[in-house]
Amino acid sequence: METLNRRKFIQNTGLLAASSFLSPLAAYGFHQAKKRLALVGTGSRGIGMWGSSVQEAYHDIIEFVGLCDINPGRVAYAKEQMKVSCPVYTDFDKMIKETKPDTLIVTTTDSTHHEFIIKGLEAGLTVISEKPMTTDEQKCQAIFDAEERTGNKVIVTFNMRYTPYVQQIWELLRNGEIGDIKSVNLNWYLDTSHGASYFRRWHGEKEFGGTLLVHKATHHFDTLNYWMDSEPEEVYAYGSLDFYGLKNSSINHSHCRTCPHQSNCDFYWDITKDRRAMELYVDHENHDGYLRDGCVFRKEIDIYDTMAVQYRYANGVPVSYSLTAFSPYEGFRVAINGTKGRLDAWIKSSMPTGVPPYQEITITNLFGNVNTIQVIPQSGGHGGSDPRLKNKIFRNPDSPDLYKQSAGSRDGAMSALIGIAARNSIETGKIIKIADLTSLKPMAKKA
Ligand SMILES: NC(=O)c1ccc[n+]([C@@H]2O[C@H](COP(=O)([O-])OP(=O)(O)OC[C@H]3O[C@@H](n4cnc5c(N)ncnc54)[C@H](O)[C@@H]3O)[C@@H](O)[C@H]2O)c1
Repeated sequence: METLNRRKFIQNTGLLAASSFLSPLAAYGFHQAKKRLALVGTGSRGIGMWGSSVQEAYHDIIEFVGLCDINPGRVAYAKEQMKVSCPVYTDFDKMIKETKPDTLIVTTTDSTHHEFIIKGLEAGLTVISEKPMTTDEQKCQAIFDAEERTGNKVIVTFNMRYTPYVQQIWELLRNGEIGDIKSVNLNWYLDTSHGASYFRRWHGEKEFGGTLLVHKATHHFDTLNYWMDSEPEEVYAYGSLDFYGLKNSSINHSHCRTCPHQSNCDFYWDITKDRRAMELYVDHENHDGYLRDGCVFRKEIDIYDTMAVQYRYANGVPVSYSLTAFSPYEGFRVAINGTKGRLDAWIKSSMPTGVPPYQEITITNLFGNVNTIQVIPQSGGHGGSDPRLKNKIFRNPDSPDLYKQSAGSRDGAMSALIGIAARNSIETGKIIKIADLTSLKPMAKKA
């Protein structure tokens, strides 16, 4: 960071602090009585990120008043894991009526978020939704309409913005280190462990997660929107299922536990050795039939594992993005070209040779002067981002949003809509204009 012009940066962030009055978190104070939290979707993320850890870290200022899930076994397990005493429900409306929360946390499968976001807004609650905010353009519009009707706002939890290297890149860009941004390449690699896990789970079916272009890439598109400080205008994409799914293997089954091909499948996963997965999913599959160790080659898989997206921001910056879900290693490469130089980062999160203890960002000026910045990941989920996001939401909601990390429905939509437009483009072969999808008109500079 030694090359940053601190004074200029502080000037910039001073202005940004003033704009935090527009933040969806700004009105969310925890000053008086404990906040009454209800949570819907008590799966892995619900219990882990928003359940036990919130109960442990913030029990002085919050209390869980209700938990809800369509799976009665899982919601009972969640209560036990979270060490809370509130009632549990399978009927969301009943939970809201009986427990009178003031805050709702939505951690269900992606394609159902809108239902609970809208009901929460209608009930006058502060709604906190996991990413992606939703999975298609009609549901995006329904959320905007509900916000307008009720005057309430949804908070979308883009934890990636809180990751130290993402924030560091944002600072470098806003500080003008590479001049005006002119083009971007981002290539994202999911490895054969993490990448394959999406194909084992509900994420492998479009109706639940909207494809990885929405479920996964919403993180990447939101980060790009954040870095570019602009909103997407038009999108063209290619996508195919080239590795997982029925057509790409001579062996397949419904799930691993009963599979006759266990000994000759590279993707055989013995879930019975994973106690947490057994207690969270297998013990309750009698209620909903969800097989957490689904076959990565099963016939229901209808998403892409190979994706290439070209899109342009309203400020004219073109982006070339790709996502592959069967890479030997995991991470991403980003290159941002500007009028004064170029920013490169190659962030590795799994490598056969091991992952370095720091992440590197390189700024190369147009005439060859190189400055390398090392960023040390912080402890806590997702490189330290999860605890930072939770602190902002629960502990310090009124603190200045210096790095513009708070996100609402507009950000939630603008990231999901790139993936939704990419999906539409793959299906129609056409360039999709973001302005044609909902009532939102892209802005050259983000608000
Ligand atoms: N920000 C991140 O880094 C991050 C990481 C993981 C997951 N997530 C998000 O968290 C959400 C949950 O993911 P997960 O990994 O916990 O999945 P999961 O399958 O473990 O949990 C989802 C839960 O929702 C419940 N559910 C589904 N439909 C429901 C309905 N209509 N009503 C009530 N409950 C319903 C399921 O029974 C299940 O218990 C997803 O939106 C996912 O994108 C975000």
